[in-house]
Amino acid sequence: MGLDSPDDAGVYKLNSEIALIQTLDFLTPITDSPYEFGQIAAANSLSDVYAMGGEPITVMNIVCFPNNILSEDILAETLRGGLDKINESGAVLVGGHSVDDQEFKYGLSVTGIVHPDKVKTNSAAATGDAIILTKPVGTGIMSTAIKAKLATPENIKESVAVMSMLNKTAAEVMSQFNVNACTDVTGFGLVGHLLEMAKGSKKDITLFTQKVPMLNNVLDFARMGMVPAGAHKNRSFFKELTHIDEAVDRAVVDLIFDPQTSGGLLISLNKKDAGTCVEKMKIKGIKAWIVGEITGESDKGFLRLI
Ligand code: CO
Ligand code: CO
Ligand code: CO
Repeated sequence: MGLDSPDDAGVYKLNSEIALIQTLDFLTPITDSPYEFGQIAAANSLSDVYAMGGEPITVMNIVCFPNNILSEDILAETLRGGLDKINESGAVLVGGHSVDDQEFKYGLSVTGIVHPDKVKTNSAAATGDAIILTKPVGTGIMSTAIKAKLATPENIKESVAVMSMLNKTAAEVMSQFNVNACTDVTGFGLVGHLLEMAKGSKKDITLFTQKVPMLNNVLDFARMGMVPAGAHKNRSFFKELTHIDEAVDRAVVDLIFDPQTSGGLLISLNKKDAGTCVEKMKIKGIKAWIVGEITGESDKGFLRLI
């Protein structure tokens, strides 16, 4: 699996027992704390392996760093944050590469493994599935509010906690169920990643906008216009295949198009198992919400926001 179908990672079958998962991601700093930035960038990179139903095994650092502008301590703290998340994931750091660059960027290339029969693509959702989301949305709008000095210390703390949380436990619980499709929510926002699932699976998806979990106060920030350019881009990019019910609050729509950093898993599984899956996640300390359902067939894939 690779370039032919847009999914979270490339998958290469080695034999009947093991398939390799490979992915690479890096980010520019999104917090003032280099340690937290390192944690978030690592969690974001590792997430694509979890979204494929796999387990990360080895990782390598990728760093672009402006040697003449920033102190080396910033790099050391970033790598320490990343390493803490790598250790939490159980993967092993085996190397990396750094170059001198005008703008600081950090991330990981991650190699994972999965049983070839257990690969979770984003293209096999089935009619009658419910869709579970495992993290609240709004990190893009919150970052804009943080830059505008509108966010409180509590807002910042919550946002950093959400972005630096690994999708590991959510993926472990998911593996106990017959899951049809999975992906993680990142730059295309909740809408974009749902639409990828809809297109790939040739299904019609309904999103219950009132059920979508959001960071505290982020709806107020959306109403104040703290919406990043990426949300508007997503909106024009995905509007052809999306229908928004008139009753849906405009600020809620902004949140659903908001590009996310290190967002949660979107899991599509039979409705009858969805409630149990959410309960099992709660027992493991993972908040999860049923936010939508697969309502029928559709050649191009379609998304309804109600
Ligand atoms: Co992904
Ligand atoms: Co990715
Ligand atoms: Co996947």
